[in-house]
Amino acid sequence: MEIKALIFDLDGVLTDTAEYHFRGWKRLADEEGIPFTRTDNERLRGLSRRQSLEQLLRGRRVGEDQAQAMMDRKNRYYRDMIKRVTPDDILDGVPELLAELRAAGVKIAVASASKNARDVISRLGIDDQIDAVSDGYSVRRQKPATDLFLHAASQLGVPPPQCVVVEDAASGIEAAKAAGMWAVGIGPVERVGGADAVFPNLRGVGLNDFVTAIARGTRRNDTDNNWVIRENAFEAEKIHHKETIFTIGNGYLCTRGTFEERYPGDRQATLIHGVYDDAPLVYTELANAPDWLPLDLFVEGERLAMYRGEVLNYGRTLDLRNAVLARTVRWRSSKGHTLDMSVERWASLGDEHIFVIRCTIAAVDFDGHVELRAGLNDEVDNEGLIHWSRIAQGNPSPQACFLHSRTRKTGVDICQAAHLTVEGAEDVVYQARDCEGHPASVARFHLEQGQTATAIKLVVMYTSHDTDAPARAVQTKLNEAIARGYGALRADHEAEWTKYWETSGVVIEGDDEAELALRFSLFQLLIATPRQDDRVSIGGRTLSGFGYRGHVFWDTEIFILPFLIFTQPQLARNLLMYRYRTLPGARKKASRSGYEGAMYAWESARTGEETTPPWLPGPDGKLVRIWTGDLQHHVSADVAYAVWQYWRVTGDHEFLIKYGAEIILDTAVFWGSRVQYNADDERYEINDVIGPDEYHVHVNNSIFTNRMVQWHLQTALEVLAWLGRRNPDKATELIKRLDLDEERLDHWNDVISRLYIAYDPETRLMEQFEDFFDLEDIDLQSLEPRAKSIDEMHGFEAVQKLQAIKQPDVLMLLHLMRDDYDEETKRVNWNYYEPRTDHAYGSSLGPSIHAAMGCEVNEIERAYEHFMRAARIDLRDSRGDAGHGIHAASAGGLWQAAVFGFAGLKLSDNGYSTNPRLPAHWRRLAFRFKLRGEDVFVSLPRSTSDLHRGVS
Ligand code: BGC
Ligand code: BGC
Repeated sequence: MEIKALIFDLDGVLTDTAEYHFRGWKRLADEEGIPFTRTDNERLRGLSRRQSLEQLLRGRRVGEDQAQAMMDRKNRYYRDMIKRVTPDDILDGVPELLAELRAAGVKIAVASASKNARDVISRLGIDDQIDAVSDGYSVRRQKPATDLFLHAASQLGVPPPQCVVVEDAASGIEAAKAAGMWAVGIGPVERVGGADAVFPNLRGVGLNDFVTAIARGTRRNDTDNNWVIRENAFEAEKIHHKETIFTIGNGYLCTRGTFEERYPGDRQATLIHGVYDDAPLVYTELANAPDWLPLDLFVEGERLAMYRGEVLNYGRTLDLRNAVLARTVRWRSSKGHTLDMSVERWASLGDEHIFVIRCTIAAVDFDGHVELRAGLNDEVDNEGLIHWSRIAQGNPSPQACFLHSRTRKTGVDICQAAHLTVEGAEDVVYQARDCEGHPASVARFHLEQGQTATAIKLVVMYTSHDTDAPARAVQTKLNEAIARGYGALRADHEAEWTKYWETSGVVIEGDDEAELALRFSLFQLLIATPRQDDRVSIGGRTLSGFGYRGHVFWDTEIFILPFLIFTQPQLARNLLMYRYRTLPGARKKASRSGYEGAMYAWESARTGEETTPPWLPGPDGKLVRIWTGDLQHHVSADVAYAVWQYWRVTGDHEFLIKYGAEIILDTAVFWGSRVQYNADDERYEINDVIGPDEYHVHVNNSIFTNRMVQWHLQTALEVLAWLGRRNPDKATELIKRLDLDEERLDHWNDVISRLYIAYDPETRLMEQFEDFFDLEDIDLQSLEPRAKSIDEMHGFEAVQKLQAIKQPDVLMLLHLMRDDYDEETKRVNWNYYEPRTDHAYGSSLGPSIHAAMGCEVNEIERAYEHFMRAARIDLRDSRGDAGHGIHAASAGGLWQAAVFGFAGLKLSDNGYSTNPRLPAHWRRLAFRFKLRGEDVFVSLPRSTSDLHRGVS
């Protein structure tokens, strides 16, 4: 364990102004006639001024002005008293400790909620020993939020795991731990026992005491293992799978887990949001960006590679907490030189244009020459297809290189620059190495046995989507990154991750595999979700592989978005903006297909126009007609559903008014023109579609589609009425522009009441589509064991005639409308459809939804089976296709299964409720979400059905 910084709370740790606070509050309380004792004062430790006042008032209501005046008054009293603070007020042991820390090169910060912190520090006369102060002005959220400590760490440029916080308040200790730092408590165990180490005071305590006490502490216990994905041996036959698993990213791009020095047959890829280029058959695909990873290591002229020399030791870890991928290798060259290499990479979440590789090299048994080549490479392809033309390349200095490339058809520019430094070796010689297509910097140095050198490669990227002048932006950013330095960049990066996990994290006690798998899924979604750009969305296989070419499906709105809507609403909003910005493409699709309004593409890319390939090679190489782009229409209702859910959970009226309403209304216009009236049966119908179950094409009256359309039209009318009240100008504008006249609205009402929904109220059974029940029934159980999907076994034509389905369809509907149907309806349909579904090899979208639905019908064991099936799709590559990228929908579905399923979270008009149905071995399920701006923390212990709820 390496400690690089100490972050001290001020009051009660460095000095005892706590006493002055007490007197200040006491005087205020006396004046107001409120009883206030020293015991009461204990409870104020670590609280902000406002929180303290609230405590002091004990529920008494005062107006905002009055509260402000009271806080000012107390602060006046306090300031008057601290004017008398002198260096004598430093607590015992502090001067010695500060001196020791400075001598040891450990950074020192003060982090205090107080707005007077700087004043007090200077009166104590210790300003020049403190490297940074974070105070009541630095951040908005106070302890136990992590902000203050993360602010301090970032100022110091030290990553949280190397920071120790010294605190005298429970809230501060909680904050330190949540920030991923070590916590030392000063005071009685009853108050600070949550810390990693506890001391009564700082008298005689030195740095070493911290280290030993923390090391003895219990904090890094077994549950911490459920944050790290590990690989303990290299298996060449699994490289594609592992490359997907070890993908890293920051919402701007993702990079697969190939080795820096490559490996024959690997599937190297970096995919950047929105950077598409034309491709045969599939129209457009995310272009594999020029590779930023290259780092080649030569020992006495021999190049390190996993397939030559001898690999004596190998391990890889992906730490989900900070998104750092690390590999350690002990390698012996054929001439017998042994070295330890450890290489880490991360894509900065603090600044999405910065990417970092750090490589340490230790000479185990030799003295000799080492050479490192760090560069960029545009000779990359998408499984054979080349997308880049070279615009420029070069070396501005021996330590730096740049590469400027352009997509061949779409003309998107990407500029990259890299900078190499080596520390820990003497006389490092740098040299430019400008090979065609791969400019690099070379560092040559000498290592003696036992010596360790560390290389840092900083990479910066911009595209012409980000700025008009990407080349200039790259230059500026690279200089900025070099100036900030590795430590500060890393600290910013980790602080951002801490914030994401604080709001998006889930705890499953009692099931390590499930917990790790769920976190892994959320991690994969978080790295694939765009942060700054609202013109892009997440593809079916995220940015982690070539599968589905970066095309966007309903997977985003129906499977992924709930997780983001509930935990990262700002990111959910960005993704919905993508659908707003692609409305022109959707309108084109509608008019080309002979409809009105906006009809979203089944597969969508940059413009929103349809990009589903009409033909693709089948297993025998012959082209097969793909009908999804023509017929899978429900996606338009799915997008509306997501907009509505976002609004319901966040209460973001502004979004609905400006963007969401238009999405919901113009897609409703499409449905109005899409339905057909059947005069014989006096009903509306939607014929010739594909529902969610893709084993059946050209079906009529898919119940999923029809019911969603009915809901959609109803919602459109409600939204329009709401808009009329809330923002009449916008309503008038939309009515005019989208042509929402009376006649159209009457038509919608007519469709709502007479659209055919194949639901038998007697049996409560739903028919997936017209005449589904007349198809031949098949016992899927009788086909076991099998390693193929039902349509592969029977062929596409034959499967049309069977009651075998690829994925939940009726059950998908019941999942989305779980609040509108009773348990009996769910049960009847579960009993019918669940056994007829191709769970193992049908769609990867199915298992998580079955897990959620299993909970609804109280089949918890079965639900758990489905949950684990979903959890293993990528981590265990149970379908054998994880090499093409993360199954994004399954990842999002897993969160839904945990939260909507096992926790039974439901929203109501005035809040939320849970209905825990935990698998027998789960001890606790806990998660957070945001409901209309408020942070909610839910913790559901197994032992009691009573739930402990709290708003934090
Ligand atoms: C599923 C679709 C899904 C698509 C992309 C297909 O196999 O059947 O529902 O949208 O994959 O993940
Ligand atoms: C998916 C469809 C998709 C098609 C073409 C199929 O595997 O099931 O949803 O449209 O591939 O990408």
